[in-house]
Amino acid sequence: MAKKTALAAPSILSVDYGCLAEEIRSVETAGAEWVHIDVMDGHFAPNLSFGPKTVADIRPVTKLILDCHLMVSNPQDYIETFAEAGADYFTFHIEAALHANRVIQQIKAAGMKPGICIVPSTPVHVLDEILDELDLVLILLVNPGFGGQKMIPSCLEKLPKLVSIRKESGYNFLLSVDGGITTENASLAIEKGADVIVAGNAFFTASDRAAAVKKLKGIDY
Ligand code: DX5
Ligand code: ZN
Repeated sequence: MAKKTALAAPSILSVDYGCLAEEIRSVETAGAEWVHIDVMDGHFAPNLSFGPKTVADIRPVTKLILDCHLMVSNPQDYIETFAEAGADYFTFHIEAALHANRVIQQIKAAGMKPGICIVPSTPVHVLDEILDELDLVLILLVNPGFGGQKMIPSCLEKLPKLVSIRKESGYNFLLSVDGGITTENASLAIEKGADVIVAGNAFFTASDRAAAVKKLKGIDY
C-alpha cells in the first residue's frame, strides 16, 4: 500500500512580517499546498497576531489555499470580513462558540469551508454533533498563543479516534494538526491520521525549506 503523505500548511505566525509577501512566495516555491494563518485576539489566545486585512493583502500574492485558524472569542463576528478577504478555510474554536452549528452555516453561506479546532484539554466527543457539517477538524497539539512550543504528545491520540468516526459515519472532513510539529515528528502525526500538517517554526527556520516540506509531508522519511 502506498505510504500516506499529507498536505503541508506552513503557519505564518513565525514569519518576519517585514517581508511577508516574499515569505508567502517561498511557501509556494518550497512545494507547500496551504498557507496557515493564525489569527489571535489577545483574549481567547494570549497573543495578538493579525486580522482580515493581512489575508486580503496575501490573497493576490499566492494561489495557495488560505487556511485561516481563528483563535478568537466570538468567531461569528469575523466571517464576512474573512470571506471578503479571500479566506478558503475558516476554522474556529468549539470552546469559543455557544452555537457552533449556526456559525458553520454562516461560514458556508459566506462561501468558505468550515473548520473546527479543539485545544489540548477538549475531548473529541464534544464534536460529535457537528462532524457531519465540517470540511476540516484541526487538532491543536499545544496551548494556543505562540509558535515554537513543544507538542503535547497525548493530543495525537485524538487523530485515530476521528479517523474511525469518519470511516464509520462516512464523513469527509480533513484532519489537520497544529503546534510543535517538526520534520522529525510529522511522520508520526501522518501515521496516526493527519491529512494536513501545520508547521510554523519547522518551516520558517529551516535552512532548506523544500527539504523541510518533503519531511513535513511525510515524503522523505
Ligand atoms: C497556536 C498556533 C501555533 C502555530 C504553529 O499557538 O497555531 O501552533 O500555528 O506553531 P509551531 O509550528 O511553530 O509550533
Ligand atoms: Zn493554527
